Amino acid sequence: MGTRKRRVSVKSCRAKLDKWDDLRMQVFSNPTQNEIKMAAKALKEGNLVAFPTETVYGLGADAENEMAVSRIYSVKGRPTGHPLIVHISSVNQIDKWARDIPEYALTLAEEFWPGPMTLILKRSDLARDFITGGQENVGVRVPAQPVALALLNEFNKLGGNGISAPSANRFGAVSPTSASAVKEEIEKFLNREDLILDDGPCVVGLESTIIDCTGSDPVILRPGYLTRSMVENKTGIKVSKRKHDSNVKTSGLLKSHYSPKAEVVLDETTGPGDGFLAMYDVPTPQGAIRLASPKTIDEYAKNLYSILRLADSNKLLKISIRMPEGDGLAEAIRDRLIKASAKRSKIYDV
Ligand code: TXA
Ligand code: MG
Repeated sequence: MGTRKRRVSVKSCRAKLDKWDDLRMQVFSNPTQNEIKMAAKALKEGNLVAFPTETVYGLGADAENEMAVSRIYSVKGRPTGHPLIVHISSVNQIDKWARDIPEYALTLAEEFWPGPMTLILKRSDLARDFITGGQENVGVRVPAQPVALALLNEFNKLGGNGISAPSANRFGAVSPTSASAVKEEIEKFLNREDLILDDGPCVVGLESTIIDCTGSDPVILRPGYLTRSMVENKTGIKVSKRKHDSNVKTSGLLKSHYSPKAEVVLDETTGPGDGFLAMYDVPTPQGAIRLASPKTIDEYAKNLYSILRLADSNKLLKISIRMPEGDGLAEAIRDRLIKASAKRSKIYDV
């Protein structure tokens, strides 16, 4: 008996691909109000929704739904016990999640929300252990991105009180600043009921400034777009830098974080074939592959994570970076780069 070749028709392939598509989460690009409503409903039903903020894309779940929140940890591969930021639609919602709020924290909230600032406050009963990592405080933020705000408002209309959302990347990896980066990071871990809202690239590009408001004065735990001098100049409130004995647990404070696959080396000699990133006025060393030449610090911050991703997609083994000088946002960039450089030489899967 001769061997019979199995014939696979284009039609059956297409049907299989369609079926495969059905199993994956949906992406809404430039979402309409109706699609944002659908996303709010998906959250209320216990699904995950990745959404843009002005800083980075977040992976959201109903902050009161323990099962949904536990999926955030499994999708990210994040160890439990690392607290999540609760996103709310306006400063008026702050009392739901926090109590004994100091006067200075209310001033910060009124001045800088919506915006790239997270306040760490004493938690209310609504902020359960599964979002605070068992700590007695909670991180709260009102994002400024229009789709994020619309999502939060629609979520409120359905009776939701807050969306807990870490950056939508795998634990320790580079935060996504576009919907395609979100897909690259976590698509394969999402279900068909989950959603991604795509509203283009994030305007800030670095995660929010985290300010600990549990003591007598505010303390910056994670530098970001909102700087100490911006706060002091606008409000007259004195802000301290993180004290070493602070017992507030913050995963962004791990030594290694925000790491691409390529090895990141800072302000060292650059070899031929290395990726190279520096401000536009720094010449490219011989043989290096220039990845970008930002003209301003804002542009450096906005594009940093997509540049690190670009190096990975080009399978570069090493990225040599000249860190920007100065205070403010430059300090936040250096903070991320120092952490990105802490994890060395990962080998590619081929
Ligand atoms: O810009 C941002 O903050 C983005 C967007 C999506 O809002 N979110 C973000 O989340 O960066 P995540 O989880 O990737 O980083 C938040 C940091 C973590 O290091 C976490 O430990 C810290 O905030 N954090 C959250 N709640 C906290 C709490 N109750 N006490 C201390 N640190 C907290
Ligand atoms: Mg993160």
